[in-house]
Amino acid sequence: MSETTRRAAIIGHPVAHSRSPLIHGYWLEKHGIDGAYGRLDVAPEAIDAFLSDFKASGLVGANVTVPHKEAAFRAAVELDPVAAALGAVNTLWLEEGRLHGANTDVHGFLANLDAAEPDWARSLGEAVVLGAGGASRAIIHGLLERGVGRVAVVNRTLGRAEALRDQFGSRVHPVAWRDLPGRLAGCRLLVNTTSLGMKGQPPLDIDLSPLSPDALVSDAVYVPLQTPLLRAAKAQGLATVDGLGMLLHQAVPGFERWFGVRPEVTPELRALAIADLAAKGQLT
Ligand code: ATR
Repeated sequence: MSETTRRAAIIGHPVAHSRSPLIHGYWLEKHGIDGAYGRLDVAPEAIDAFLSDFKASGLVGANVTVPHKEAAFRAAVELDPVAAALGAVNTLWLEEGRLHGANTDVHGFLANLDAAEPDWARSLGEAVVLGAGGASRAIIHGLLERGVGRVAVVNRTLGRAEALRDQFGSRVHPVAWRDLPGRLAGCRLLVNTTSLGMKGQPPLDIDLSPLSPDALVSDAVYVPLQTPLLRAAKAQGLATVDGLGMLLHQAVPGFERWFGVRPEVTPELRALAIADLAAKGQLT
């Protein structure tokens, strides 16, 4: 590395578990770029000061993860339309000294489904989304943008689903958790954005038998890679899309901004990430 090395990083708290350095490191090496991508743990009380003088970090840009996406939204002086709509930024870069922010989670979600099932959105009347947090917001935005007729948002705390209806409009239908079974009847796209099924959390234990036989089941959780939900869907012969692809695809636009090459999500990159999950016992 030299003074001309372009540096980027993932900023979060905690950040030690992040797979972003693995992804960007793979692309930097593959394209022979004089660049570096590290991890930066910034505490919540320090994030506003850090972002307000981003230039001083010496970074050309950064990814931002939990819990700093809203702080990054506030700090960016230019926003892409998705970040402006969601109030959350996961990708930062400097342009003529000004801090720009984008949200690439929506792109990551859509590109992941597109790669697995190119026709997934065709004549899709309703999608069912479990959860109403930050991940859910990005996914609802993506589904509506793709023309999905309605999005049923099923959440333990109904008020959070209602807040999403207030934000996105009447195509979002808030649904109480106890009414989930009825909502799954004939469902053709089910997406989990809750933390249920994540390592250390209770499993997402729901009966998938009412789903349409051609349904696609997707999980934003990727630790473990094969969540109980995805395993149950597969056992029933349903198509599934895991959460790792969303992580890989959301990284693409940032890399292109910082390093000038649009990278690809290749089977080799996916295999590398899966090997890392396997090494840490996080496949199932
Ligand atoms: P993120 O920003 O990653 O989406 P979040 O804002 O913490 O995370 O949201 C977590 C989601 O998982 C929420 O929808 C939460 O439901 P509540 O809004 O009712 O809290 C959901 N969740 C977490 N634990 C849950 C549980 N044990 N049962 C049902 N839903 C759960």
